[in-house]
Amino acid sequence: TIIPVILSGGSGTRLWPLSREQYPKQFLPLAGSRSLLQQTVERCLAAGLGTPILVGAEAHRFVLAEQFRDMGVTPRALVLEPAARNTAPAIAAATLLAREIDPDALLLVLPADHVIRDGAAWATAVGVAAKAAAQGHLVTFGIKAETPETGFGWIRPGVVLDGIEGAFKVDRFVEKPALPKAEELLREGCSWNSGMFLFAASAMLEELTRFEPALLSAVAASVAGRASDLDFVRLAADAFKSAPSVSIDDAVFARTGRAATVPCSIGWSDVGSWSALHEVVEKDGDGNATRGDVILRNCQGSYVRTDGVLTAVLGLSDVVVVATSDAILVAHKDAVQDVKGVVQKLKADS
Ligand code: GDD
Ligand code: MG
Repeated sequence: TIIPVILSGGSGTRLWPLSREQYPKQFLPLAGSRSLLQQTVERCLAAGLGTPILVGAEAHRFVLAEQFRDMGVTPRALVLEPAARNTAPAIAAATLLAREIDPDALLLVLPADHVIRDGAAWATAVGVAAKAAAQGHLVTFGIKAETPETGFGWIRPGVVLDGIEGAFKVDRFVEKPALPKAEELLREGCSWNSGMFLFAASAMLEELTRFEPALLSAVAASVAGRASDLDFVRLAADAFKSAPSVSIDDAVFARTGRAATVPCSIGWSDVGSWSALHEVVEKDGDGNATRGDVILRNCQGSYVRTDGVLTAVLGLSDVVVVATSDAILVAHKDAVQDVKGVVQKLKADS
C-alpha cells in the first residue's frame, strides 16, 4: 500500500500579507476554492491513494482539523510536532508510524503548499515511482528546469532503471546550489526537485540509520512516547526537540546511492512568490488575474486580489496588489521576492 504523507510545517512568508505565521499559505484558497492543503488531499483521493497522514505544527492544530472537517475527510492521523525541525524529522516520524500500519508500506511524501494543475499526469507519475520504490529506490519527482533556481534541489538523471520505463537512477542530487552551479546544472539539462518523494519505509529507515542515526533515535523516542487522542497524535516534546533540524534533501537525498527520479510534466509550482502564483492562475486577455471585489482599467500582466475592501487599479502594468483588512501590498512583479524582507522587518520590530 501507498500511504500519502502531507508535510504542512512551513510558514510561507513570501505570500505576505495573506500568508501569516498562524495562517500560512497551505491553508489559503490561493488558486481555486479549496486551500492548497485541501487540493493536495483531493489529489490523493482522486488517484485512489486513500487518506493521508498529516504532519504539522502543534500551533496549527485547530486550522488543520478544521481544513479536514470542512472537506468531510478524516485523515489517517494528524501528527503534531512540538517544534519545527525541518523535513527530515517530520518524515522520519511519518515513516515510523506508517511502518506500524504496514511494515511493507510505501510512503508518498507531499508538500502541503504546492500547485499541481494536471492531477492525472501526477497520478501516472506516482504509479511509475511506486514500481521503483518497490525495488528499494528512494524516488524524487523531477520537474523540467526553466531558470537557474538557487532555492530548489537539482537532479541529474542517470541510466534508466531496469525494466521501469520513465524512471532513472539519480547521478547527482544538489540541494540549493549557488548561482554559478545552478546555471551549470541548467545548461546540463538537469531537473528541479519537486520536493515530493516516494519510498519504502524500510529503505528510508535504512538510509536514516546510516546518515542520521542520532536524528532517527531522537524521533523514534518521540514516536514511542507519543500521546494519541481521537483527533491528534502528539509526538513527545523533549525527544523530538532533541532531533537536529535538517531537511530530508540534505539528510538523505544528497547522500544516498539509492535515489531514483521520475521526470514529470504536471503543471507544478511551489508558489514561492506572488508572481509565481500569477503564473499558474487563470488570466484574462490582458494577462491580468483578479480575485475578490476588484476593478481594473487599462492594466496589463497584473495580479490583484482583495479580502474585502473594494480595490481599484488603473493604468498599471506588471504589478501585484494584495489587500487584506490590516495590510496592503503594492509591488512591481519583479520586486515581490523582497516581501520576505518586509516580513523580517515586521518580526524584528514587534
Ligand atoms: N511537518 C513539517 N515540519 N513540515 C515542514 C517543516 C517542518 O518542520 N518544514 C517544512 N515543512 C514542509 C513545508 O510546509 C513544505 O510543504 C515542505 O515541507 C518543504 O519545505 P520547504 O521549507 O518549503 O522546503 P524548500 O522549498 O526550501 O525546499 C524543498 O522544496 C523544493 C521545491 O519546492 C526541497 O525539497 C527542494 O529540494 C525542492 O526543490
Ligand atoms: Mg517550499
